[in-house]
Order: sequence, then structure tokens, then C-alpha cells
Amino acid sequence: MSTKWTAEAIPTLSGRTFVVTGANSGLGLETTRLLTGHGAHVVMTARDRIKGEAAAARIGQDVPGASLELRILDLADLDSVRAFAAGLHDDKVGVDVLINNAGVMMTPPRKTKQGFEMQFGTNHLGHFALTGLLLDLLAERDDPRVVTVSSTLHKQGRMDFDDLMRTKRYQPTQAYAQSKLANLLFGLELQRRLSAAGSPVRSLMAHPGYSRTNLQFAGPTGLRKAAMYIANPLFAQSPTIGVLPQVRAAVAPDVVGGQYYGCPKLMENRGYPELVQPSRRAQDAEAAARLWTESEKLTGVEYSF
Ligand SMILES: NC(=O)c1ccc[n+]([C@@H]2O[C@H](COP(=O)([O-])OP(=O)(O)OC[C@H]3O[C@@H](n4cnc5c(N)ncnc54)[C@H](OP(=O)(O)O)[C@@H]3O)[C@@H](O)[C@H]2O)c1
Repeated sequence: MSTKWTAEAIPTLSGRTFVVTGANSGLGLETTRLLTGHGAHVVMTARDRIKGEAAAARIGQDVPGASLELRILDLADLDSVRAFAAGLHDDKVGVDVLINNAGVMMTPPRKTKQGFEMQFGTNHLGHFALTGLLLDLLAERDDPRVVTVSSTLHKQGRMDFDDLMRTKRYQPTQAYAQSKLANLLFGLELQRRLSAAGSPVRSLMAHPGYSRTNLQFAGPTGLRKAAMYIANPLFAQSPTIGVLPQVRAAVAPDVVGGQYYGCPKLMENRGYPELVQPSRRAQDAEAAARLWTESEKLTGVEYSF
């Protein structure tokens, strides 16, 4: 019988530095709270300084003596991603764990600064570029990890390699599902390439089931948004539980590169973290390699292991 993995299993994290994207809200904020609460230093990233400062102040109140710093990162702008990564290098910040958490869901048709479809651009391409630019910092540390947050909705996703930006027919849910499938294809391919290169960095993936956060209100509009107002109180779990898979992947001593942790109950919508299965499409190594090549081309970030 498996024992429940709760926040009590988090080891002491003093001396370890975590970069958390989208740390001002929802699961990123809960991740920051748990990590700082166990002694870690957290680089909180936010795209909006005012929201970021408010979130950092909240953590400061909840976790007296929390070790954290706020840095601005907009994943929908590759110039911002480059500037953020350069800032960490310039300031010689050692990064033990990168948590690719930020995301948008079911937005109306919108584009990133460089003209990518917003959900694919933010959720996948921004994190792809960020990870590539921080890999050298991670590789210098003991037990370095990259944790990429996906979703059960990846199972509905299809990679449309002929139209990754969904210019022909934009459908908000499909575009989100494609971006979350891309998160898993990326996380698994990253582990294959890290292993092949003999790198100490491990790539893990996680999903939070259905957790009550701002995600359901930030992106969707119209009927989709109205449905969230009904569904959230009925079906969503607390983000204090939904956050545990990504925290487990980031801190548990017994994780193995390439693993995917999620909330296993009620069709993976709820529950304490356990290993879960990526869909068959997420395990397609050929698609993953193709996505990697496309992502390097689109972002201009080439990985060096
Ligand atoms: N909640 C769920 O049920 C659920 C289910 C499956 C997967 N997930 C995944 O969990 C992750 C966290 O989402 P959440 O539920 O915590 O939602 P959330 O409360 O809306 O938080 C999302 C975070 O991402 C940030 N973000 C959005 N666009 C960004 C950009 N261009 N650059 C940098 N940061 C950006 C947001 O910043 P702003 O506050 O400025 O918008 C916010 O800090 C996402 O990857 C999501 O896909 C969530």
C-alpha cells in the first residue's frame, strides 16, 4: 500500500536555490511558500512587478525569515527570457532546481511578443528557451533538476507540426492541450538528451490535477469562463494539495529522471502525488525530437549539454 506523500515529507532545503516561474499566483505561490518554509532560497519570478512584490510580501508574512528574491520574467517575450537568464549569470546565482510552472489556459487568439500563439509560446517555447539558457548553471550544482508542469489535458492534445501556431483554425482548448502535450514531450526528450550526455541534471514532470487557482479565470472568456465559476467550487481541489506533485518532483530524494508525478484520483483530478503515465502521444520520441528542432529554430536557443 502506498503511503500518502504530504508536505511533511519535504526535507530541509537550506543551501538550495529554486527558480519558480509564475511565482506570484496559484501553484507557483504555493510552491514558493513550501520551499521557503523548508529553508530554501527561492527566486520568485513574475511578469508584473507590482503583483510580484505583493506575492513576495505575502510569503514574507506567512514564512518569517523567508529567503527569497523577486525577478521579472515574461515568458511571452524571448528578450525578457534572455535578460532574466543573463541576470542570473551576471549575479552568479547558483540554480539547483528550475520549476517551469507559469502558464496560461484557453486564452482567446493572442500572440507573444515574437508572434507565437500565446499558449504554445508561453507554456512551451518560453520555458524551452529558459531551460536551455540556465542549463549550464544547473549542471554546476549537486542534484540539479528541471521540473516542468503539464496537465491531464495533455491527453487531448495533438501536435500540429504543420501549423504549430494554430493560424488556420484556432480553438482555445486545443491550443492549451497542444502546449501541455509539448511540456511533456519536452520534459521526456530533455531527460533522454541529458542521459545521453551524461549530465547530472534530471528532468521531471508534474501535474496538479484540477486545482483552484487563477488559471481558470485569467485565460478563458465568455461561456468557458462562466463554466469555470460553476465547476471550480464543485470539483477543484485546494492548491495546497495540487502543488504537491511538482514539489515532490523538485525535492524528494528518490525521484528518477523522466518521471511524471500527478494527482492520481478521480481521473487524475485530485489526490496526493503519485507517479502517473504520460499519454502515448507524449511518449512519442520522434515527435519529441521534431518539437525540439522546431523549438530551437523558433526561439534561437540551442542547447549545449
Ligand atoms: N490549476 C489547475 O487546475 C491546473 C491544472 C493543470 C495544469 N496546471 C498548470 O499549472 C501551472 C500553474 O498554473 P496555476 O493553476 O497556478 O495558474 P495561475 O494562478 O493563473 O498562475 C499562473 C502563473 O503564470 C504566470 N504567467 C502567465 N503568463 C505568463 C508569462 N507570459 N510570463 C510569465 N509568467 C506568466 C501568471 O502571472 P500573472 O499573475 O501575471 O498572470 C501566474 O503567476 C500552469 O502551467 C498550468 O498550466 C494548472
